[in-house]
Amino acid sequence: MLNTRCSAHKHYLFAGLLAAVIASPVGAQTGLVASDQRVMEIVESRCALCHGREGVSSSPIYPRLAAQHPDYLFKQLQDFRDKRRKSDTMGDMVKDLKDEEFRGLVAWFSSRKPAFRQQSDTELADVGKYIFNKGNSFAGVPACASCHGPKGYGTQQLPRLAGQHPAYLESQLKDFGDRERTNDNAVMHSVASKLTALETHAVAVYIGGLQ
Ligand code: HEC
Ligand code: HEC
Repeated sequence: MLNTRCSAHKHYLFAGLLAAVIASPVGAQTGLVASDQRVMEIVESRCALCHGREGVSSSPIYPRLAAQHPDYLFKQLQDFRDKRRKSDTMGDMVKDLKDEEFRGLVAWFSSRKPAFRQQSDTELADVGKYIFNKGNSFAGVPACASCHGPKGYGTQQLPRLAGQHPAYLESQLKDFGDRERTNDNAVMHSVASKLTALETHAVAVYIGGLQ
C-alpha cells in the first residue's frame, strides 16, 4: 500500500481515485461525467423514485444499482430499451433515452457506494452459503462463486450480486429458470432451472447479506 505521511497528499490521492472511478470506460467515451446536468436531471426525475438517487433502492423489489459494473448496467439499459429484456416498468423508463444518456447514468450509478444489510436468518443463510460456494453436485448446480466471485462482487462482464435485495434476486432466479428473463445468455437459465425453491430462497438471502 501507499504510505503517505502528508494528509494533503492523501487528499490528492483520494480525489484521483474518485475521478478514475467516475470516468469509467463507458463514461469516458463521450466525455460525459457523473455530474453532467442532463444526466442528473434524469436520475432525479426518473430513476430516484424507485432506485434511489444513490442507487440504493428502498423497496426490495427494485434492484440496487450502486457499485454495479458499468458494462453490465449499460447492456441491461440497452436491452430494456430495445425490448430484449422485457419489463413493463423499465421499458417505459428508458424508451426515449440514447446511448449517450445511458453512459452518463451508468457512470453515476456504478460509482455510488454499495449498501449492506445485516444477515437476518442465519440458518437459511448457511444453506445459501453452501450453494453459493459449492453448488449442488447432486443436481448439477455449479458454485455461484465460480463466476460471480467468492464475495459476489462480479467482474466487468458479470453482475455484482453482493448486498442486492433478496426479493429481487429471488425473482430474477425464478425468471431465469422459466426463461422469463428474456435477454439471458443461457448460462443463468441452466443454473437457475436446477435450483429448488428452498435453494433459490436461501442463496438469495445469503447473497443479500454479503458485504
Ligand atoms: C417505477 C419504478 C422504476 C423506475 C422509475 C426506474 N426503474 Fe429501473 N427497475 C425497476 C424494476 C422493477 C426493475 C427490475 C426489472 C423488472 O423486474 O422489470 C428495474 C431494473 C433496472 C436495471 C437492471 C438492474 C439489474 O441488476 O439487472 C437497471 C440498470 C435500471 N433499472 C436502471 C434504471 C434507470 C437508469 C432508471 C431511470 C432512467 C430507472 N431504472 C427507473 C423499476 C424502476
Ligand atoms: C457460469 C457462470 C455463472 C454461474 C456459475 C452463475 N452465474 Fe449468475 N450470472 C452469470 C451471467 C453471465 C449473468 C448475466 C446475465 C445477463 O447478462 O443477462 C448472471 C446474472 C445473475 C443474476 C442477475 C443479476 C441482476 O442484477 O439482475 C443473478 C441474480 C445471478 N446471476 C445469480 C446467480 C446464482 C445465485 C448462482 C449460483 C446458484 C449463479 N448466478 C451462478 C453467470 C453465472
